[in-house]
Amino acid sequence: MKIALGADHAGFEAKERLRERLRATGHEVVDVGTRSTESCDYPDFALKVARAVADRTAERGMLVCGTGIGMAMAANKVAGIRAAVCTDEFTTQMSRRHNDANIFCAGARVLPAERIAFLAELFLKTEFEGGRHLRRVQKITEAEGRS
Ligand code: RB5
Repeated sequence: MKIALGADHAGFEAKERLRERLRATGHEVVDVGTRSTESCDYPDFALKVARAVADRTAERGMLVCGTGIGMAMAANKVAGIRAAVCTDEFTTQMSRRHNDANIFCAGARVLPAERIAFLAELFLKTEFEGGRHLRRVQKITEAEGRS
Protein backbone atom coordinates (compact mmCIF):
# COMPACT_ATOMS: atom_id res chain seq x y z
CA MET A 1 0.00 0.00 0.00
CA LYS A 2 1.21 3.54 -0.66
CA ILE A 3 1.46 5.48 2.59
CA ALA A 4 2.18 9.15 3.26
CA LEU A 5 4.07 9.54 6.53
CA GLY A 6 4.85 12.62 8.58
CA ALA A 7 5.90 13.75 12.03
CA ASP A 8 7.01 16.80 13.97
CA HIS A 9 10.09 16.94 16.19
CA ALA A 10 8.31 15.05 18.99
CA GLY A 11 7.39 12.24 16.64
CA PHE A 12 10.56 12.20 14.56
CA GLU A 13 12.23 9.14 16.08
CA ALA A 14 9.04 7.09 16.12
CA LYS A 15 8.40 8.12 12.52
CA GLU A 16 11.86 6.90 11.47
CA ARG A 17 11.18 3.54 13.10
CA LEU A 18 7.72 3.36 11.56
CA ARG A 19 9.00 4.15 8.07
CA GLU A 20 11.52 1.32 8.20
CA ARG A 21 8.91 -1.10 9.56
CA LEU A 22 6.43 -0.23 6.82
CA ARG A 23 9.05 -0.59 4.09
CA ALA A 24 10.22 -3.91 5.54
CA THR A 25 6.65 -5.21 5.32
CA GLY A 26 6.36 -4.23 1.66
CA HIS A 27 4.65 -0.85 1.75
CA GLU A 28 5.65 2.13 -0.37
CA VAL A 29 6.28 5.05 1.97
CA VAL A 30 6.42 8.74 1.05
CA ASP A 31 8.08 10.47 4.01
CA VAL A 32 7.16 14.17 4.05
CA GLY A 33 9.37 14.92 7.08
CA THR A 34 10.36 16.29 9.49
CA ARG A 35 13.99 15.33 9.11
CA SER A 36 15.33 15.94 12.65
CA THR A 37 14.36 16.62 16.25
CA GLU A 38 14.66 20.37 15.68
CA SER A 39 11.48 22.12 16.77
CA CYS A 40 8.90 22.53 13.99
CA ASP A 41 5.15 22.99 13.51
CA TYR A 42 3.04 19.83 13.30
CA PRO A 43 0.33 21.32 11.01
CA ASP A 44 2.88 21.66 8.19
CA PHE A 45 3.33 17.88 8.09
CA ALA A 46 -0.25 17.00 8.90
CA LEU A 47 -1.50 19.05 5.95
CA LYS A 48 1.05 17.54 3.54
CA VAL A 49 -0.01 14.01 4.48
CA ALA A 50 -3.71 14.90 4.49
CA ARG A 51 -3.52 16.46 1.02
CA ALA A 52 -1.68 13.41 -0.32
CA VAL A 53 -4.44 11.13 0.97
CA ALA A 54 -7.25 13.45 -0.15
CA ASP A 55 -5.90 13.70 -3.70
CA ARG A 56 -5.24 9.93 -3.72
CA THR A 57 -1.48 10.26 -4.15
CA ALA A 58 -1.42 7.94 -1.14
CA GLU A 59 -3.98 5.38 0.05
CA ARG A 60 -3.38 5.98 3.76
CA GLY A 61 -1.61 8.50 5.97
CA MET A 62 0.33 8.14 9.18
CA LEU A 63 1.20 11.04 11.49
CA VAL A 64 3.17 11.14 14.72
CA CYS A 65 3.55 14.08 17.09
CA GLY A 66 3.74 14.27 20.88
CA THR A 67 0.15 13.19 21.47
CA GLY A 68 -1.29 12.59 17.99
CA ILE A 69 -3.96 15.18 18.80
CA GLY A 70 -2.62 18.22 16.96
CA MET A 71 -1.87 16.12 13.90
CA ALA A 72 -5.44 14.79 13.82
CA MET A 73 -6.94 18.24 14.33
CA ALA A 74 -4.96 19.68 11.44
CA ALA A 75 -5.43 16.72 9.09
CA ASN A 76 -9.19 16.69 9.66
CA LYS A 77 -9.45 20.21 8.20
CA VAL A 78 -8.82 18.71 4.76
CA ALA A 79 -11.95 17.50 2.93
CA GLY A 80 -12.13 13.73 2.66
CA ILE A 81 -9.87 13.11 5.63
CA ARG A 82 -10.84 11.02 8.62
CA ALA A 83 -7.80 11.11 10.90
CA ALA A 84 -7.99 9.18 14.17
CA VAL A 85 -5.80 9.27 17.25
CA CYS A 86 -5.09 5.62 18.00
CA THR A 87 -3.94 4.63 21.46
CA ASP A 88 -4.44 0.88 21.66
CA GLU A 89 -5.72 -2.13 19.70
CA PHE A 90 -9.37 -1.28 20.31
CA THR A 91 -9.25 2.36 19.16
CA THR A 92 -7.05 1.41 16.21
CA GLN A 93 -9.37 -1.33 14.98
CA MET A 94 -12.54 0.66 15.59
CA SER A 95 -11.15 3.65 13.71
CA ARG A 96 -11.05 1.43 10.64
CA ARG A 97 -14.02 -0.89 11.21
CA HIS A 98 -16.55 1.80 12.14
CA ASN A 99 -15.06 5.14 11.06
CA ASP A 100 -13.18 4.20 7.89
CA ALA A 101 -10.28 6.31 9.12
CA ASN A 102 -7.77 7.06 6.39
CA ILE A 103 -5.06 8.59 8.56
CA PHE A 104 -3.56 6.96 11.63
CA CYS A 105 -2.29 9.40 14.27
CA ALA A 106 -0.25 8.50 17.32
CA GLY A 107 1.63 10.21 20.12
CA ALA A 108 5.29 9.47 20.68
CA ARG A 109 5.01 10.98 24.17
CA VAL A 110 2.17 8.56 24.89
CA LEU A 111 3.35 5.29 23.36
CA PRO A 112 6.78 3.73 22.68
CA ALA A 113 7.91 3.73 19.03
CA GLU A 114 7.59 -0.05 18.79
CA ARG A 115 4.00 0.09 19.97
CA ILE A 116 3.17 2.81 17.44
CA ALA A 117 4.61 0.65 14.65
CA PHE A 118 2.54 -2.33 15.82
CA LEU A 119 -0.69 -0.31 15.92
CA ALA A 120 0.05 1.25 12.53
CA GLU A 121 0.31 -2.20 10.98
CA LEU A 122 -2.94 -3.21 12.66
CA PHE A 123 -4.57 -0.09 11.19
CA LEU A 124 -3.48 -1.11 7.69
CA LYS A 125 -4.76 -4.66 8.09
CA THR A 126 -8.20 -3.73 9.44
CA GLU A 127 -11.09 -3.33 6.98
CA PHE A 128 -14.03 -0.93 7.11
CA GLU A 129 -17.27 -2.82 7.90
CA GLY A 130 -19.55 -0.62 5.79
CA GLY A 131 -23.31 -1.18 6.30
CA ARG A 132 -24.78 1.19 8.88
CA HIS A 133 -21.30 2.63 9.44
CA LEU A 134 -21.15 3.79 5.84
CA ARG A 135 -24.30 5.87 6.36
CA ARG A 136 -22.71 7.52 9.40
CA VAL A 137 -19.43 8.22 7.65
CA GLN A 138 -21.38 9.71 4.73
CA LYS A 139 -23.01 12.13 7.18
CA ILE A 140 -19.55 13.32 8.19
CA THR A 141 -18.64 13.77 4.53
CA GLU A 142 -21.84 15.70 3.88
CA ALA A 143 -20.95 18.13 6.66
CA GLU A 144 -17.66 19.09 5.01
CA GLY A 145 -17.64 22.69 3.90
CA ARG A 146 -20.63 23.61 6.07
CA SER A 147 -20.31 25.48 9.34
C1 RB5 B 1 5.06 19.64 20.44
O1 RB5 B 1 5.62 20.07 21.62
C2 RB5 B 1 3.66 19.09 20.67
O2 RB5 B 1 2.80 20.13 20.98
C3 RB5 B 1 3.17 18.35 19.44
O3 RB5 B 1 4.07 17.33 19.15
C4 RB5 B 1 1.82 17.67 19.53
O4 RB5 B 1 1.74 16.86 20.66
C5 RB5 B 1 0.66 18.50 19.36
O5 RB5 B 1 -0.49 18.03 19.34
